[in-house]
Amino acid sequence: MQRIATELQNATGGCFTTKTKSGAILDICTAPGGFLVAAMALNDPSLRIRACPLPFSQGSYKIILPHENNHAIQISYLDITMFAEDMGMGLNEISASHPDHRQFMHAPIYHEGESIRLQTSSFVLALEHLRPGGTLITLLHKIEVWGMACLLQTMSMFSEVRVHKPKSGRANRSFFYVVAKNVQSASREAEVYQAARESGPQSEELVAEFGPRLVKLGRSVCFTQANALAKAPFLRN
Ligand SMILES: C[S@@+](CC[C@H](N)C(=O)[O-])C[C@H]1O[C@@H](n2cnc3c(N)ncnc32)[C@H](O)[C@@H]1O
Repeated sequence: MQRIATELQNATGGCFTTKTKSGAILDICTAPGGFLVAAMALNDPSLRIRACPLPFSQGSYKIILPHENNHAIQISYLDITMFAEDMGMGLNEISASHPDHRQFMHAPIYHEGESIRLQTSSFVLALEHLRPGGTLITLLHKIEVWGMACLLQTMSMFSEVRVHKPKSGRANRSFFYVVAKNVQSASREAEVYQAARESGPQSEELVAEFGPRLVKLGRSVCFTQANALAKAPFLRN
């Protein structure tokens, strides 16, 4: 993960370096913490970190970032899909027959302030807590599918979207990173993120308005994956 972080940092003009002196990072789905180690090395030591890895009982790795006795680093072992309050729901709105009813959490994760569920929870938390103008870095899959086109178009309405597929790591897989800078997290578009994802644009509209940009974004991601696939041992024969 640290090699991927270095690639991302170089490809995006410093996405891990915070703009403000003692910046703050919210790392959702943290474990094992390679990105945090990279971010610590690239920022002022007073960097504030709030991180949410899964509990060990749910299969999380140990966090590799030394954090004992560092009060600027707060690590909470939590399943981020269970933050009912952050998702705008009261406990009484969650059906008692829901199998995870007891695990939903009331309190927002910041007092101060199945994959689609994880992705949606991550985006809601990120947009809720990111300072306007901040940077959001996220791992996504399959830039070529319809849902991803809609998501990238929606994100470009309230941020400067760049994508990068690292050559290190398992480049033959479909993952890529979105680095969204200058995120207007308090904008109307960000607020209606969920609604936009539910209804979605018409395909003709998206192709007309966002098609050329999507092709530009997707080209390097697809080339990197295609090159790695051409060398993949499981495709040699
Ligand atoms: C690709 S790894 C993240 C690597 C990490 N960014 C790093 O820098 O080392 C994805 C992580 O998300 C965690 N995860 C998956 N579902 C989660 C959830 N619901 N809540 C919190 N973490 C979750 C997994 O346990 C896994 O450690």
